[in-house]
Amino acid sequence: MIPLVIDTDTAADDCFALLVGLLDPRADLRAVTMVAGNVGFEQQVHNALLTVALAGRGGEVPVHLGASAPLVQPWVSAADVHGDGVGGIRRPDDGHAPAVMHAVDALIALSKEDAGRLRIVAIGPLTNIALAVRMDPGFASRIERLTIMGGSLNGRGNITPAAEFNIYVDPEAAAIVLDAPFREIQVVSWDPLTLNHAVFDAERIERIAAVGTTLSAFFVRANQTTFDFDIAAGLAGSTHPDSLSVLLALDEDIVEREERYRMSVETGSTLTRGATVCDWRSENPNIVAPTRIDGERFFEYLCALMALMPDTPEAVRAAIAADAAGDVAADTAGD
Ligand code: BDR
Ligand code: CA
Repeated sequence: MIPLVIDTDTAADDCFALLVGLLDPRADLRAVTMVAGNVGFEQQVHNALLTVALAGRGGEVPVHLGASAPLVQPWVSAADVHGDGVGGIRRPDDGHAPAVMHAVDALIALSKEDAGRLRIVAIGPLTNIALAVRMDPGFASRIERLTIMGGSLNGRGNITPAAEFNIYVDPEAAAIVLDAPFREIQVVSWDPLTLNHAVFDAERIERIAAVGTTLSAFFVRANQTTFDFDIAAGLAGSTHPDSLSVLLALDEDIVEREERYRMSVETGSTLTRGATVCDWRSENPNIVAPTRIDGERFFEYLCALMALMPDTPEAVRAAIAADAAGDVAADTAGD
């Protein structure tokens, strides 16, 4: 099994990424670490604890609270993209709380426990990872591979014309991480990777719904706001870079093509703040970036994951079913 930590701003696709780490038998998910990003910090923590409970692993996989704001700039929200990130589902009180240890301390401790073997998948802004790098100069070199969801290889942004959200929220942190001596940094880009290989259109979402499990009901519900936002933004469906990132940490065979670049981050300009710049000429690359994966295999993998029936507490099942039922009632109320 692969020892793994997922550093996350848990909303929508982050939840599905956690399910990959929690349920894939190849993963030994040692911890979830929380960072400021998509939605309010407390809501993100709620979403992470809900997802851990949904996988039947409440109280078993620790959820550590990390940086609740970026290093320098004020936090930027993506609640317009994700809503609350779980489609209004409320976690029943199951007595499970976040771990006491700070996320950055946990990252450093786990890097020592599994030195040279631990993989980290960072699917939010890079604040926690940068703090770990600064606090412990040996941290980066103990990580077997850091997978980052962030940036673009070609200048296309999503939160601004030039910047992808995770890098835009904390570019100073991203700059620290990209300059640190990690053995390997794998970048899951917004463009080209996500936009070409990790978009689920309405037909695919219907196929997930048709799986008919609690997990698939959760997926459809938690994904709805993002799906609607992405369609309105002109995409063919919802985007799933975070779940792809965790799968990439577990399954290298899914990569069909990859490139090596020297990636840097713009931290100075107002127009292009948070933009990633890839130097294709560098003889000293710091990232490896998949540019093509088997997207159909990724989608089929998630469908198979959604078919699993973990030991979800009855109260969590009921919360998901009740919300879905409430929605149907609301939708038909005016008919
Ligand atoms: C990234 O930002 C978040 O909204 C998503 O979870 C993903 O990590 C996409 O830009
Ligand atoms: Ca994310």
